[in-house]
This record gives sequence, C-alpha cells and structure tokens, in this order.
Amino acid sequence: MRKLLFATNNAHKLAEVRAELGDAWQLVTPRDCGVTEEIPETQPTLEGNASQKARYLYDRTGMDCFADDTGLEVEALGGAPGVHSARYATDGHDFAANNRLLLRNLAGCGNRRARFRTVISLILGSEEHLFEGVVEGHIIEHETGDEGFGYDPLFVPDGCDRTFAQMTTAEKNATSHRARAVRKLAGYLLAMEK
Ligand code: IMP
Repeated sequence: MRKLLFATNNAHKLAEVRAELGDAWQLVTPRDCGVTEEIPETQPTLEGNASQKARYLYDRTGMDCFADDTGLEVEALGGAPGVHSARYATDGHDFAANNRLLLRNLAGCGNRRARFRTVISLILGSEEHLFEGVVEGHIIEHETGDEGFGYDPLFVPDGCDRTFAQMTTAEKNATSHRARAVRKLAGYLLAMEK
C-alpha cells in the first residue's frame, strides 16, 4: 500500500478523508512522520496556503503528500471569513468564538447565503496538482448539532434541512466541500495507479 502524508492532525478531517480515499493509500499524519512543529500557512489565498503546507511537508519529508485549506465564504460579508476562517475571532482555533462572531456580524441580515470552499494541493513525485470542492448553503440563526467541527453547527447545505453538525460523517461527505475535493484527488490518484 502506498503511503500518502496528509497535512493535518485534525481527527475529524482525517476520518472524512479516509472514508473517501478507501484502502488504496495509507494515510499518515505529520505527527506519524515526526513533524511536530506548526506547519506555516501565511498566504492570502486558500490556494496559496494549501500549496505552502504541502510544499513544506514535502521539503521536510520527501514523501508524497497533500494539504487542504478551507474557507467559509459568506456572501453578505463580501466572502469573509474566507481564508481567515480559522482565526476569525481570535488568534487561536476557537470554533465557539468564531461562530459567535459570525452570528453577530450577520445579525439582522436577510441574505445568509454562504459556501464552503476547499482547495487541496497534492505533491506527487515532486509535481503539484490542485483540486477544488465547493458546497453552497446558508447560515442559520443558532448553533444546531454536536457532530463535526468549526462552522458545521451553523451551515445548512442546499437541498438539506439539517446542519453539517447534525449529520454523520457519511452524510456530510455526501455533499461536503472537502469530500468533493477529495473525490477529485482520489480520482486522480486512482488514474495514476493504472
Ligand atoms: P483549515 O485551515 O482547512 O483547517 O480550515 C480553516 C477553518 O475553517 C477551520 O478552523 C474551521 O473553522 C473551518 N472549517 C474547515 N473545514 C470545515 C468544515 O468541514 N466544517 C466547518 N468548518 C470548517
């Protein structure tokens, strides 16, 4: 089984991606490979950050690897928080504070359209490939559901009447931004195997 290093230590993301990639590739994490420092993501775009993280890991380990970067893009906020989604309210990754700030910034706003966008940068044999996944939806008024992470309790994808946080991993993966990008990645990897 070929090893592929995924630039995350987030257990939720790992489970989501494992479920999509299947058994053809063994996913390993930075920690598994002795990379314990924070991986830099200082670029102004999702594409730039995904690329920066994947290149950093490739330079550190020489392994085939990929990194994703995701943003929640809210129409009425001009695409914010976007690339700043992780550090919207504070410098840490404080999901509850981010959600509170988002609700405050949308208070009284009729337009609650939003989308999640994921960009994946894959480095395979030193060459880079980018994949994108998008899911459209809207932001509800109160956090609902206990599953998932981040903005999941506030986001209802189009065609659904529940938030991502009210779904199992399999249900979220049926429509999610990350799963859509990962399916493109998986399709590419499978084609490379043949
Ligand atoms: P990351 O840099 O790809 O980890 O994503 C940046 C931020 O976007 C995270 O800290 C979360 O707040 C949010 N985020 C990313 N993916 C998701 C998701 O699938 N659901 C909800 N929020 C997410």
